[in-house]
Amino acid sequence: MRGIVLAGGAGTRLRPVTGITSKQLLPVYNKPMVYYPLSVLMHAGIQDILIISSPKYIGAFQELLGDGHRIGLDLHYAVQQHPDGLADALRLGRDFIGGEQIALILGDNIFYGHQLPTLLQRERESLSGCTLFGYPVADPERYGIAELDKDGKIVSIKEKPEKPTSNLAVTGLYFYDNDAISMADELTPSPRGELEITDLNLNYVESCRARLVNLGRGSAWFDTGTHDSLLEAATFVQIIEKRQGIRIACIEEIAYRMGFIDAVQLSAIGDSLGPTSDYGQYILDLAAA
Ligand code: DAU
Repeated sequence: MRGIVLAGGAGTRLRPVTGITSKQLLPVYNKPMVYYPLSVLMHAGIQDILIISSPKYIGAFQELLGDGHRIGLDLHYAVQQHPDGLADALRLGRDFIGGEQIALILGDNIFYGHQLPTLLQRERESLSGCTLFGYPVADPERYGIAELDKDGKIVSIKEKPEKPTSNLAVTGLYFYDNDAISMADELTPSPRGELEITDLNLNYVESCRARLVNLGRGSAWFDTGTHDSLLEAATFVQIIEKRQGIRIACIEEIAYRMGFIDAVQLSAIGDSLGPTSDYGQYILDLAAA
């Protein structure tokens, strides 16, 4: 399976803070936003990852993350010239994906839950068609919303419904088989001019090849698309990290725990970050433990 982080868009809702930087490079507490979706793909065991961003900011992502080898990843980059929709990621990623399965994640989505790595790996191994990840929300009009029948089968998905028929948001993490590429090719722009991920997902629903896993109330999910949700996500990360003395979405730690790098490599990363950075010290302590 190959991963894609879609980290483009204009970030208009976060202006003026997105005036000179990409939304997905803004800090969420103590690390850049993109670390969070990247960590989700890493927890799923994915090491080949394509990062898509706008022409203006792709260089900044490259500067931040490089080729990924430092943390045992193989990172690739692609430019999305215009924010033509989430499903455009599959078209842009065609060559990178080849004949493989795909995990697409939005660059502003943050997931947390202690069972998440196990769940992701299980869903990856058993993937057939498409797997969506649902999360109950209090403000369903902001998201793609799924309606399920009594057996948990998806009946409908509506993008930002005015009158939501459920509170189950379809989060920005999507597992697809390779058919998604040809299906994305067939899509036509919606009235708002975008290739909608919901239209792609509905294709799978119509052919009974879509499954939805409800992440449920024991986990946390944030779409950091607004100032309030960005602040809420940062506060959440701060509280958990301070209380437990751990780091959420520390990509170097995940690389180590997943076996992508060893303690010597981890220690070298800690050294390069320096002991004046709490983050660097955390990595050094981990490498020495
Ligand atoms: O966060 C989950 C929601 O994400 C889903 O529930 C919705 O079904 C899905 O449509 C999407 O809704 P959003 O309103 O959050 O999508 P937005 O246009 O804000 O784009 C999400 C991220 O993707 C954002 O970080 C910008 C980036 N993006 C967006 C577009 C349209 C791109 O990189 N390229 C694009 O063309």
